[in-house]
Amino acid sequence: MKTVPIPRLDSNRILNELRTERFARSLLIVDRCTSTNDIAVKFAHDGAPEGFTVISEEQTEGRGRYGRLWFSPKGGIWLTVILRPPVTFELLNGLPLVGALAVARTISSNLGLQALVRWPNDVVVDRRKLAGVLVETKFSGNVLEFALLGLGVNANFHASLMQGISERSASLLDHLGSPVDREAFICSLLQETERLYDLVVLGGVADVLRFVKQTECSRGRRIMVKVENGAFAGVLDDYESLTRIRISTSDGSYKSVDTGSVIAVDYLDG
Ligand code: BTN
Repeated sequence: MKTVPIPRLDSNRILNELRTERFARSLLIVDRCTSTNDIAVKFAHDGAPEGFTVISEEQTEGRGRYGRLWFSPKGGIWLTVILRPPVTFELLNGLPLVGALAVARTISSNLGLQALVRWPNDVVVDRRKLAGVLVETKFSGNVLEFALLGLGVNANFHASLMQGISERSASLLDHLGSPVDREAFICSLLQETERLYDLVVLGGVADVLRFVKQTECSRGRRIMVKVENGAFAGVLDDYESLTRIRISTSDGSYKSVDTGSVIAVDYLDG
């Protein structure tokens, strides 16, 4: 399969075209790092403001949820935004879903693909994972110091490079047949993420939940949820909030599951 040339990201273009208030107004782009969250955590400790953004051309130790590695070659979009949200756990535990919603909406509106959110934090096209979200937090006692919103999008490389998971994964390049304009995509993604995040912070959770329900593909599917003290299977019936889903189990009862308590999720129907 033909690889495509990957021009380095043009930070001036991003800064000129970006229409955000805070997100990426301070922007650092590096060629390579372990994880953009590792760089962001240092800046956050040094007092970087909300919206400070780190982008890397590639990551050598990209992290996924549940301690998994996240394959992050050149050509992808790997970025972390520092957030300092007012602590409500509704917001904090709902951030991965909000991030996934922002990615899915950006892909659908900019590139014409039907991208969907797969609870709790994946973005899929034709059931194959194309993007993911990792949120890491730092508390001092009960006080949240900052949250790191890490977004990863398989953009301009072929998913066939992803050893062991290529049949479950996809990239924008695979779907479109030609590379995406990463600068333009990053600008739209940051704008959409800031818009949805602000909506949640300003009390618009109900609106965001409505967007999630319009954009998700998990309701009606059989899942296995692992929590700290066990695991159970059932059909994802509905979203009760940004941080809670309802599962119908085989004995006919319903069970609410908090995203914050989930250790892993498996989709049993593939
Ligand atoms: C997942 O689906 O498991 C989450 C993947 C999150 C990947 C992004 S890429 C940018 C940021 N840096 C990381 O190391 N991980 C996140």
